[in-house]
Amino acid sequence: MEKLKIAGGYPLKGTVRVSGAKNSAVALIPATILADSPVTIEGLPDISDVEILKGLLEEIGGQVKLSDNEMTVNPSGMISMPLPNGKVKKLRASYYLMGAMLGRFKKAVIGLPGGCHLGPRPIDQHIKGFEALGASVTNEQGAIYLRAEELKGARIYLDVVSVGATINIMLAAVRAKGRTVIENAAKEPEIIDVATLLTNMGARIKGAGTDVIRIDGVDSLHGCRHTIIPDRIEAGTYIILGAAMGDGVLVDNVIPQHLESLIAKLSEMGVYVEAGDDQIFVRSSPRLKAVDIKTLVYPGFPTDLQQPFTSLLTRAEGSSMVTDTIYGARFKHIDELRRMNANIKVEGRSAIVSGPIQLQGAKVKASDLRAGAALVIAGLMAEGITEVTGLEHIDRGYSNLVEKLNGLGATVWREAMTEEEVEQLKNT
Ligand code: EPU
Repeated sequence: MEKLKIAGGYPLKGTVRVSGAKNSAVALIPATILADSPVTIEGLPDISDVEILKGLLEEIGGQVKLSDNEMTVNPSGMISMPLPNGKVKKLRASYYLMGAMLGRFKKAVIGLPGGCHLGPRPIDQHIKGFEALGASVTNEQGAIYLRAEELKGARIYLDVVSVGATINIMLAAVRAKGRTVIENAAKEPEIIDVATLLTNMGARIKGAGTDVIRIDGVDSLHGCRHTIIPDRIEAGTYIILGAAMGDGVLVDNVIPQHLESLIAKLSEMGVYVEAGDDQIFVRSSPRLKAVDIKTLVYPGFPTDLQQPFTSLLTRAEGSSMVTDTIYGARFKHIDELRRMNANIKVEGRSAIVSGPIQLQGAKVKASDLRAGAALVIAGLMAEGITEVTGLEHIDRGYSNLVEKLNGLGATVWREAMTEEEVEQLKNT
């Protein structure tokens, strides 16, 4: 087991290139199951979720090649192998295997997904969609059993705007008979990316990126080549870091329109942010103003940037309120930030950050992916050395983190943990 060590407190400068979007990758890879011939996805991030999904496709008989961030999947030999346990439990997005396998084989057995613990994360809207398409869905001993004689298009209104349910229903519906209409659909860029891949595979989808998506089912889908969109959350993480410590940080390979809510908040704080075609330049300011943020579905402020943004707010003058309307319990990073001298109170779904505070290096633990990002940013802002454990969470979503940070002039390195430290970590 390793920990990340950060020598913080130094300004950062230079260019960082953003990788392909994790939350697209974890849907695009299962989507390849729906084709009858090889699909190639370019620009995948180097993250453990991609490796795990590769292993899952191989378990069901897929032939998968992954090199230089490009994956080619030959799905022709795949079978509807039950996956009740094992790798499926390691990531939340394994739920996309349900929609994709149901769409292709009309049956699937998938263990209930794992992933970050952000409070309750039900999948009732996914199930509502599969049932509307004609599948029977049962939960037996922690695995979801799905079966349909045939899938028939339906009109599905989502009671909760859900990224996962929107994508999963699209996956199940593209090979169903007739028309499916998803109402109150999520509008995140990752949904458009998945719809683009499916369309290039021969699917007929209209309205992805709006709140009504219409899908006309087709009998079969074919292979194609697809380039993934850049990761707006990884980009946002480096932009926030640049806002905290940047003496001129250029974040390259971005779609600035995906980050408008973040850019607006940073400008309100007094950070210099300039968006180009596919780059964003950011420079910190000696005085930052406190701001309130409320996470919302896209295009609102993303919940996935709430935790990293909280670290930045410790430097702002005054009191900032951070409210998470998507995951009311996404505050596990707060206790760790307090260890680093932050002055933050949690009240219900909100955290109140009082600043400015000079963070101090400490030993902290990442409890989930974006908490990890928040702690890395805090470590780079802090005086002295910070040690971050729980790297398995960070490795799920941040491609080549150490190299990218050191490329900006940071001093960050991974170090093996001693047996005693591993034992201590188990007991916390
Ligand atoms: N929800 C339900 N029922 C459902 C589905 C969702 O009540 O059937 C609720 C959730 O509990 C949550 C809200 O609806 O309160 C939104 O959940 P959504 O389904 O949109 O989230 P998700 O698809 O499970 C994806 C990302 C998350 C990101 C959320 C919100 C992936 C693999 N994950 O999750 O990303 O926070 O959308 O934007 O795409 C991350 O990257 O760190 C991460 C957690």
